Parts: sequence; structure tokens; C-alpha cells
Amino acid sequence: MPSVPDRINVLLIGTGGREHALAWKMRQSARLGDLWVQKEANAALQELGQICPETISITKSFFLLRWCDKNDIGLVVIGPEGPLAEGLADLLVGPNRMVFGPRKDLAQIESDKGWAKQIMREALVPTAEGRVFTSEAAASKFVVERDEPCVVKAAGLCAGKGVTVCATTPEAQAAISLLFKGAEFGAAGSKIVIEEMLEGQEASVLALVDGSTITVFDPCQDHKRVGEGDTGPNTGGMGAYCPAPIIDEERLLEITKSILVPTVDALRRQHRDDSAQLPFRGVLFAGIMMTHAGPKVIEFNARFGDPETQAIMMRFKGDLVEILYRTAAGTLDGGSFTMDPRVSCCVVVCANGYPGKPAIGHAISGIAEAESLAGPDEEVVVFHGGTTRNNLGELVTSGGRVVGVTALAENLARANELASAAAALIRFQGAFFRRDIGHKALKSSAVRG
Ligand code: AMP
Ligand code: GLY
Repeated sequence: MPSVPDRINVLLIGTGGREHALAWKMRQSARLGDLWVQKEANAALQELGQICPETISITKSFFLLRWCDKNDIGLVVIGPEGPLAEGLADLLVGPNRMVFGPRKDLAQIESDKGWAKQIMREALVPTAEGRVFTSEAAASKFVVERDEPCVVKAAGLCAGKGVTVCATTPEAQAAISLLFKGAEFGAAGSKIVIEEMLEGQEASVLALVDGSTITVFDPCQDHKRVGEGDTGPNTGGMGAYCPAPIIDEERLLEITKSILVPTVDALRRQHRDDSAQLPFRGVLFAGIMMTHAGPKVIEFNARFGDPETQAIMMRFKGDLVEILYRTAAGTLDGGSFTMDPRVSCCVVVCANGYPGKPAIGHAISGIAEAESLAGPDEEVVVFHGGTTRNNLGELVTSGGRVVGVTALAENLARANELASAAAALIRFQGAFFRRDIGHKALKSSAVRG
């Protein structure tokens, strides 16, 4: 078993809020050597590392590999789904270079919802009943005959936006037609999944997986809809908090046993015959619906969530570089970390237009004020998502989810209050955010008394 080196040079792939949170925590590790980030990384992420001059793409493999060798990169941490789906992990892994993030064919658990359904079926993992279609006529016939609420999804990657929850058959037909005809989702929309509509509360369960050992983080709850009270279109995530009390310890154990373990086993079986192939190493992220019939999988992701990671990293106590390295090296059982007993809440401040085309280039202020709002025994960290510096060196918006204002406080009510008050101090033209991150949990605890 390889031991964990005392100093590890890390290349962090990804440019947004999730990566800022990972870099922020990795910077607290004594094992961190050089931290390299992409040249497209947001403004804060660039300040935490050195800029990798190479283009991060499998089509530039020769230069990228040569650069990794030259800079003695010992660990590559891949944040987003796109590079995983393209096979960046397969490309960069080497005898002296661990990669956190699964190889291409196992990343299909996220990048192909049809493949994911098949894995879940084989592993008897509870999920929404679903069928895969590659023809618009067949899909349309199916929803007409079924005539019940359903969910229409592009099978491929769509940044959380290729999903329509349809209460009626005409809505479903319109969603099907949009996916097949619309240019918006391209090839991702030419194969679709139609699922039964699940009802209940959603939660995000993220686990580190090193091929066989599974370490589950405390559950989070994301808020996908753009508007308060869960209204409006889906987004990549408007805010998250951790831990989410709708999944208590007993339920988390049930989810681990009935969902995570069989899925990891099924992923391992994919390459039983080829031991040269790397197993799934990285994060397995289950989007769960807590239905009356128990927890069911809505989707799997093969990576950390955004903004779940901001909420999790705020509570993570341990050496993140070691833990990510161990996950990538298959020695997770030798590492340990704890979670801060306080509650974290991340409120995403978005740019006008999001989740459609966001307005960019607007000056941002108020970050220092927001971070200094924390009281004794509290913390506020503003994680950057879509930010950059303009020619004058000013911090400006460059994406839809501009910053994730993340508070750590003694309970959820206070964490939400603090994060929302701090978010209100972030100023740029057209800024908006949800004040109700965590309200469902707060309401249900009020009902329970
Ligand atoms: P996904 O990209 O698959 O996570 O879907 C985005 C969002 O659509 C989820 O967070 C849910 O709110 C909703 N959704 C997806 N699938 C279902 C389902 N089968 N039943 C109800 N809601 C769903
Ligand atoms: N917040 C959900 C995701 O990262 O997919």
C-alpha cells in the first residue's frame, strides 16, 4: 500500500465555487505542496494557487501530461462532471500520480442517465421507475398511454437544466419535443429518460469511494429551484445546508446499505474481468427523494456537488489533501476526519438572468463586510463561483452563480440568518438570492416541536 507523501503537488480542475471550497480547505493542509489551478479559475481560486498554463483538455494530452510530469503533480482533483465524462481521469492517472475522480466509463453513472438506471436495476437500488427513449414518437406515445405526472430528462449532461417535472401529459409532450428538436441540449437530448414523479423531500448524500471503502458525509439539502418557496425553473443549486435533519443517522445507514454499497459493488462488477482497470475513485453523490416508500435515487453524480461542497467543507475537520489522496490511491480506510458539530448554510448570490443567460462584467463589492458579520463562535466565508478581474483589476461577475456566502453557526436557524444577512451585503448590479435556504427543515422541526 503506498503511504501518503508528506508533500503533494496538486492540480485542481474546475473553476467555480465547489473548487474554491476544496482549495480553501486544502490550503489548510500541511501536506499541500504547490497548488495549481486552471487559468479560467475564478478570481479567489486564482489567488489560492498558481496558474497552470496548459489547456485542460484530453485533446491536449501530450502537453498536459508533460506539464504534470515536469511539475511533479502527485494528485489531480477533478471537480466538474465534464472532464470526467471526457476521460480526463483515465488520461492523467499514472504510477506516481493519483487522480481523484472516476474514469470515463464509470463516470457514466452521471453522464448517462440511461446507463445509471441500468446499474441501479442490476443492483436492486430503489429509484424512480423509468424508461429510456431514443425516438420522440415512442416517448410521446408512452406518456399519452401512461397519462400520469412524470419527469422528462435528457440522458446526457445538462448542468442540472435538462430536467422537466411534468404534472400533465401535454407538458410532458412539450418537454419531449423540446429535447428532441431543441438545439439547447444538443446530443445530450437525443436520448431521454422518462420517470415516474417521486414525491417527498430531497437530500444530497455524498460519499468518498476509493473503490471499496465508502465514507459518507453528513447529508445536505440543496435548493434547485431559482425562487423562494421552491418556485421557478431548476438551477445548478441556489443554496445548501449541512447536516440536513430529514436524514437522521438511522436513515443514513439505510441509504448507505440499500443504495451506496450496492451501487459501488455494481460499479466494481463492471470490470471484474479486467483488473488493470481502476475502480471508481472519487465522490459518489446520490440525489435522494425521501418518499413514503423509503429513500429513492433521483440521480447519481460522480463528483462533489455545488453548492453542497461549500456547506460540507465549512464543517470538514481534517487533512483534506490526505483524504483526497487516500481516496484516489485506494487507502481511504487508513484516513479519518471529523465534522464540526455546528451547522453550515450556503446562500448563492446570483446574477440577473440566471438560470438563463446571466449578466456579466458587473463590479462586486461587500465581500469583506459579509465575512466580518460572524459573531463569536461563528464563521462566514464567501466562496467565489462566477467571478473574475477586469482590465482594471476590479472584481466583476463572470457567471450565473457569482458567490456562495457560507455561514457556520450553532444551529440551522442562525446559520441561515447569518448567511442571508451576509449575502445581502454582497453588492453587484442585479444580484439576487434565496433567503429560505433550510426553511423546510426549520418548518418541520417547528411542527415536531
Ligand atoms: P436531476 O438533474 O436528475 O437531479 O433533476 C433535477 C431536479 O428535478 C431534481 O433535483 C428534482 O427536484 C427533480 N426531479 C428529478 N427527477 C425527479 C423525479 N423522478 N421525481 C420528482 N422530481 C424529480
Ligand atoms: N447541487 C447539485 C449538483 O451539484 O449537481
